[in-house]
Amino acid sequence: MIHALSLTIIVVSAFIPGITGRKWNNTGKGSIIFEEAWTVPELLWQSSDVSPPANQTTEDLLANLLDIHNQRLASMDATGVDFMVLSCATPCVQGFSDPATAEEIATSVNNQLAAAISNNTMRFGAFAALSMHNASQAAQELKRAVNELGFLGALINDYQQSGADNTTLLYYDQPEYDVFWAMVEELDVPVYMHPRANIAQLQALEYQHAIWIASSVQGFAATLSTHILGLCANGIFDRFPKLKIIIGHSGERIPSDLVRIDEQLRRQFAKGLPMNGTVTSYWETNLFETTSGNFATNLLFFHIGEIGLNRITYSVDYPYVSMEEGANWVKTLPLKENDLMHFQRESAIKLLGLDK
Ligand SMILES: *[C@@H]1O[C@H](CO)[C@@H](O)[C@H](O)[C@H]1NC(C)=O
Ligand SMILES: *[C@@H]1O[C@H](CO)[C@@H](O)[C@H](O)[C@H]1NC(C)=O
Ligand SMILES: *[C@@H]1O[C@H](CO)[C@@H](O)[C@H](O)[C@H]1NC(C)=O
Ligand SMILES: *[C@@H]1O[C@H](CO)[C@@H](O)[C@H](O)[C@H]1NC(C)=O
Ligand SMILES: *[C@@H]1O[C@H](CO)[C@@H](O)[C@H](O)[C@H]1NC(C)=O
Ligand SMILES: *[C@@H]1O[C@H](CO)[C@@H](O)[C@H](O)[C@H]1NC(C)=O
Repeated sequence: MIHALSLTIIVVSAFIPGITGRKWNNTGKGSIIFEEAWTVPELLWQSSDVSPPANQTTEDLLANLLDIHNQRLASMDATGVDFMVLSCATPCVQGFSDPATAEEIATSVNNQLAAAISNNTMRFGAFAALSMHNASQAAQELKRAVNELGFLGALINDYQQSGADNTTLLYYDQPEYDVFWAMVEELDVPVYMHPRANIAQLQALEYQHAIWIASSVQGFAATLSTHILGLCANGIFDRFPKLKIIIGHSGERIPSDLVRIDEQLRRQFAKGLPMNGTVTSYWETNLFETTSGNFATNLLFFHIGEIGLNRITYSVDYPYVSMEEGANWVKTLPLKENDLMHFQRESAIKLLGLDK
């Protein structure tokens, strides 16, 4: 499979203009969603274990992951989605331990996605897939994707696995990633931090006792929130104060626990904690959440109280979650018209730079 992918020669059929002066389907009221998965046939095997939504088979889910212009677009029209940002289905490049293979796959996936949406950039945008083995190379590929392919940022599926047995896990809160974060700041684009399934060895150690909870139930949020809190604690947002990090599934539970997180981190200062703000303060400056796959009204209102509605935007998590389910939930929200528009569209326009 890896060989087939690396031999694919991609011709980007049309140049997508850079982020300045972008034209998109701006109805003035439709929603904008941006934790929405897509994949290439060569990587479909990565999704073969995913549990499909109600009334769908695994085959339906896999077909929806490959599709852009048919059932996906029809569902956007039916549910009032003006614009969707696509990204490579988890774990994508983060699931490849060999650096050269991972870099080739990232480039190929980005070129294929650019080509696939090039005839309908009114409705579709893209986040880059990145190999995170080498921070300088990741920075260069992000720059290429943004400046040459017109991508709106990147989506990274949690830690990068590496090493002969996959057990060297790379976290982007280490100093060698400063060169990557500097490029993200310079390009002024958001990075979406998305969950991934754990490597087999970790999954066996942590979840074999109750395998049902290994992914979306618990493992995804537990593992990704650890990575995000690492970025906070190691001072990434002090060194790169303009970074915009998006966290799906209602913030992977972090905004639900800020009182305890801040208090217990405060006690680490005496031990040399290299962080200047509080995690709560980074939700004012660097972090954003989407409600993808987590349509929970009480939780949304609790988070509005904790981090403010201006840090919270709508997204769906298609095709793992249906756009109908999302649209039906949004209709029930007791938000004022103006707040609803910020939640489902206006904040996203700013965050994604669609107004540039
Ligand atoms: C699944 O199908 C059943 C029977 O047609 C229907 O009652 C139910 O609402 C469907 N569920 C979803 C989530 O669409
Ligand atoms: C714009 O998006 C809406 C959904 O919000 C859709 O119904 C409409 O057909 C789209 N218009 C164009 C020109 O793509
Ligand atoms: C874009 O190309 C795809 C694949 O050929 C096609 O299905 C779709 O209808 C095209 N969309 C537009 C807007 O031309
Ligand atoms: C990392 O990538 C940079 C830029 O592409 C390259 O110059 C450097 O040699 C790479 N480092 C390693 C260890 O491969
Ligand atoms: C490492 O990951 C690859 C890709 O997921 C997998 O095929 C391989 O079996 C893994 N190796 C080990 C030792 O788990
Ligand atoms: C963090 O705070 C210390 C002490 O106030 C200050 O010297 C340092 O420059 C700050 N670091 C950053 C990256 O803001």
